[in-house]
Amino acid sequence: MSPIVAITGASSGIGEATARLLARRGASVVLGARRAERLDRLADDIRRDGGVAVARATDVTDPEDLQQLVDLAVSEFGGLDVFVGNAGISKIGPIADLDLAGWSEMIDVNLRGVLHGIAAALPVFRRQGHGHFVTTLSTAGLKIVPNQGVYAATKNAVRTLLEALRQESTDGVVRTTTISPGFVRTELADSIEDLAQRERIRSSMNEFGLPPDAVAAAIAFAIEQPREVEIGEITIRPTVQG
Ligand SMILES: NC(=O)c1ccc[n+]([C@@H]2O[C@H](COP(=O)([O-])OP(=O)(O)OC[C@H]3O[C@@H](n4cnc5c(N)ncnc54)[C@H](OP(=O)(O)O)[C@@H]3O)[C@@H](O)[C@H]2O)c1
Repeated sequence: MSPIVAITGASSGIGEATARLLARRGASVVLGARRAERLDRLADDIRRDGGVAVARATDVTDPEDLQQLVDLAVSEFGGLDVFVGNAGISKIGPIADLDLAGWSEMIDVNLRGVLHGIAAALPVFRRQGHGHFVTTLSTAGLKIVPNQGVYAATKNAVRTLLEALRQESTDGVVRTTTISPGFVRTELADSIEDLAQRERIRSSMNEFGLPPDAVAAAIAFAIEQPREVEIGEITIRPTVQG
């Protein structure tokens, strides 16, 4: 089977690595993120390597953009087998900083963004009789630490959401998988405003972060199971991470 897979946050890091890996393994990939030139370059790269890819500029905070991304999958490839809700930002810092703008941005991208993806893809999954939601959470939601409270809260809100969706989907139509990575070497630290926090996270990523390919392989594992097998949660962290 060659699945049709839409991926948000495909312009860098885990999303880009996932797109490249799944395309190499025969998936048709539908790439979404805001930086259109990077998406177009990635789609060109994938096609040059013999893969199948289309891209569309997508801001996950806009439900209409997600609808158009899913519509693109259906119009180009005739359906959508997997929706990877991976776009995310990390505006970390102590709660006492009262960064209301950063909190709202994280809720808009990390939580509302996933809801918008579900709203766009679920009707297609139900119509087809099958579909798979995969989302990228974080070990920040499993081991609660200072400075990451709101970020972790958005990730755990999505964990709750996907568990409810799983329980509402025991007719076998919809599979749900959450992937919780620890430190991965990506551009995620760029979204941290607080310079000290940004440098701290960057140096941990550089020192012992996993390559994004490791997370992509976990996503591929979940997707490639037979339809009656649902991988609920995967935690993947550097062996040396505390
Ligand atoms: N790196 C880690 O250590 C780590 C650990 C645990 C979990 N995660 C999670 O992994 C996911 C991927 O992050 P990453 O580490 O690969 O970082 P990244 O390289 O910064 O990638 C984040 C992606 O999200 C996209 N994005 C951000 N805001 C968006 C919006 N409003 N609409 C659409 N796309 C948006 C970015 O693309 P544009 O800027 O082009 O829109 C980019 O493609 C995130 O959910 C993150 O929370 C990462």
